[in-house]
Amino acid sequence: MSTFTPAGTFKLAGHPVQHMGYGAMQLAGPGVFGPPKDRDAAIAVLREAVASGVNHIDTSDFYGPHITNQLIREALHPYPDELVIVTKVGAIRGDDGSWIAALEPEDLKRGVHDNLRNLGVDALDVVNVRIMGNIHSPAEGSIEKQVTALAELQREGLVRHIGLSNVTRAQVAEAQRIAAIVCVQNHYNVVQREDDPLVDELAAKGIAYVPFFPLGGFTPIQSSALSKVAQTIGATPMQVALAWLLHRSPNILLIPGTSSLEHLRENMQAAQLTLPDAVRAELDAIGRVNGEANGEH
Ligand SMILES: NC(=O)c1ccc[n+]([C@@H]2O[C@H](COP(=O)([O-])OP(=O)(O)OC[C@H]3O[C@@H](n4cnc5c(N)ncnc54)[C@H](OP(=O)(O)O)[C@@H]3O)[C@@H](O)[C@H]2O)c1
Repeated sequence: MSTFTPAGTFKLAGHPVQHMGYGAMQLAGPGVFGPPKDRDAAIAVLREAVASGVNHIDTSDFYGPHITNQLIREALHPYPDELVIVTKVGAIRGDDGSWIAALEPEDLKRGVHDNLRNLGVDALDVVNVRIMGNIHSPAEGSIEKQVTALAELQREGLVRHIGLSNVTRAQVAEAQRIAAIVCVQNHYNVVQREDDPLVDELAAKGIAYVPFFPLGGFTPIQSSALSKVAQTIGATPMQVALAWLLHRSPNILLIPGTSSLEHLRENMQAAQLTLPDAVRAELDAIGRVNGEANGEH
């Protein structure tokens, strides 16, 4: 049986956060570059998310760049005490919108200061060190230099808690020898299951696992099995994909991204869905079939 209860919370950075959070990346312009088409709509999405109970927002100063953080500030500052804003450092944007790794200690320091300035805060709740790896999947290699740099910024009081993004199990272990790690943000969803062992490992340690691309990212998940299940239980495929994640493990915190009020409302409702065990078993099989087909497991 799943241990998931819609009303439950999980402790992140000392705060009990709702399992359903919000990812702000989709609020920037096309390709996560430049301003949104409709600034008022972006502000409305952020305000409604928080009004609906979201108290965990994921962002980065390299979304836009700067745009997403500036929107969050305009929509929500002064921030409610219970709101945890998680940001990330480790990249900058080229003039053409390209993503450029920026993982030297001075880059990370600059990234932290950019986030502080654009979010309008004196200290950041949580900063994820975003490792480049193979872009959307991790690659082995020491991250000691990066975690040490973040730990120094934490000692200076600019960063309250440290998280990791796009990392392997070995990198999580390495980072934990240097600093306390409160969350890991990697690519994971009902069809992308390579992190199954890491999800369980972090759950046992009480560390949050925050899947990026929970709906499949820029091209949302398309699966006939997912659509069939959704139809059977009277929900949308995206709601079922989110509900599956919520049932997967109690340490999973969701940050689905949307620029649309309609999608935000749809996604929020997913936290109320209860998936019977038989339905969960059908959904579990989607990932296994996909993983086997891709040779991923
Ligand atoms: N650490 C990292 O490297 C990393 C990488 C990527 C993302 N992230 C974070 O993770 C968050 C989530 O990832 P994501 O936003 O890229 O991907 P996602 O949440 O998997 O999917 C977002 C896409 O799904 C669409 N969508 C959202 N709700 C929908 C619904 N109910 N029905 C149909 N389509 C829907 C969105 O379009 P609409 O705007 O039209 O709704 C958008 O195209 C981001 O916002 C960001 O904060 C982190």
